Amino acid sequence: MSRTVIHGGLVVTASDEVHADVLVEGGRIAALAAHGTDAAASWNADRRIDATGKYVIPGGVDAHTHMEMPFGGTMSCDTFETGTRAAAWGGTTTIVDFAIQPKGGSLREGLDTWHEKADGRCSVDYGFHMIMSDVNESSLKQMDELTAAGVTSFKLFTAYPGVFYSDDGQILRAMQRAGTNGGLVMMHAENGIAIDVLVEQALARGERDPRHHGEVRRALLEAEATHRVIRLSQVAGAPVYVVHVSAQEALAELTRARDEGLPVFGETCPQYLFLSTDNLAEPDFEGAKYVCSTPLRPKEHQAALWRGLRTDDLQVVSTDHCPFCFKGQKDMGVGDFSKIPNGMPGVEHRMDLLHQAVVDGHVSRRRWIDIACAAPARMFGLYPRKGTIAPGSDADIVVYDPQAQQVLSAGTHHMNVDYSAYEGKRITGRAETVLSRGVPVVESGAYVGRAGHGAYVPRGLCQYL
Ligand code: URP
Ligand code: ZN
Ligand code: ZN
Repeated sequence: MSRTVIHGGLVVTASDEVHADVLVEGGRIAALAAHGTDAAASWNADRRIDATGKYVIPGGVDAHTHMEMPFGGTMSCDTFETGTRAAAWGGTTTIVDFAIQPKGGSLREGLDTWHEKADGRCSVDYGFHMIMSDVNESSLKQMDELTAAGVTSFKLFTAYPGVFYSDDGQILRAMQRAGTNGGLVMMHAENGIAIDVLVEQALARGERDPRHHGEVRRALLEAEATHRVIRLSQVAGAPVYVVHVSAQEALAELTRARDEGLPVFGETCPQYLFLSTDNLAEPDFEGAKYVCSTPLRPKEHQAALWRGLRTDDLQVVSTDHCPFCFKGQKDMGVGDFSKIPNGMPGVEHRMDLLHQAVVDGHVSRRRWIDIACAAPARMFGLYPRKGTIAPGSDADIVVYDPQAQQVLSAGTHHMNVDYSAYEGKRITGRAETVLSRGVPVVESGAYVGRAGHGAYVPRGLCQYL
């Protein structure tokens, strides 16, 4: 069994910061020992990685990605191969992507289709959630089967009528089922029916630019739907996880429910923390690069989201990585913002943007690891295999250089998309070496991984309950 020692670094997890060497045996972490101790000195190794002056952190867990997703009349443009390679570059070693139940089809068919896309192509490990686009007696029953098979979370939508939309009765039924089988319902919470009315009215007034996407998808309609799904989950006696929270009014609903002691959880994404409606208003259709749902909000919302992350009213930062090229995809919506495919790229830069948040004083170093690694692993039944550095955990380890300087750009990123949402942004920090189950995938800033190394990870139940 191959042995690797990572020595001289500061090991940072969600709970601790220790100056320790780490012994990796095969694909697992075997031991930690303080620098210079007899125990650390006694370790023989095939490979030694010098982490002096660096952080040794768990590989990132991005619990919300959409690779090769058919959406908005096109297909998100990262494949599992290109998307997981980009993830590896940025220090993310596990993604949880969304398989989609075909309309009129079964959950199993959707899962099989996503396995065909992903199996044998990923650079890092991956699991699946299931998007339920057709809630009926049969698909409700299949939730039990999927939960037992390691797909333990189900995304439903109050948005996108005619596509993924479920009505309140369907949502309640799915939550009731999750309440009995231990699954977790994830909600895209925006009032899609009301939004469609506002879209129609805006277009009729000649409001056709990307910025109107943000205007019609009102913060109040995110808050209303968030309130509704929380109360439906309360009636069902089941937990709920609200995805891509962007409005402070929606966060206030989560905070209130958590103060009441309800098992209510929330995620936000880097785009809502670092970007705003100013980006959506960029001229010459450039705003289309920032069209996603929930939409970007005015800058004032950012402080509330950072606060929610510090107070644990939001537990997770995922990317909602759903890239569409500016040329050939986003431009489907020139002259009609409602035809711009919804989604933004981000899987490569989540760990770095959140490290920048540490540098900027928004969150502590340990909270960085919590929201980016440990909490998503616990939320989706992967902990402590993923999300921490402890004996027995998978050796998904990043040697992170907290002093490195980088400038984010489409010219240098590795995602298969022709623009960066953060073009020109300066970041302090960079993943230098990345191990996935003990195997180097990035070494001293160069990709050394392999499509097919990444393995499917069946997940357990949510560990927050
Ligand atoms: O705009 C987004 N978020 N696109 C991906 C699909 C979704 O709703 O998560
Ligand atoms: Zn969504
Ligand atoms: Zn999404």
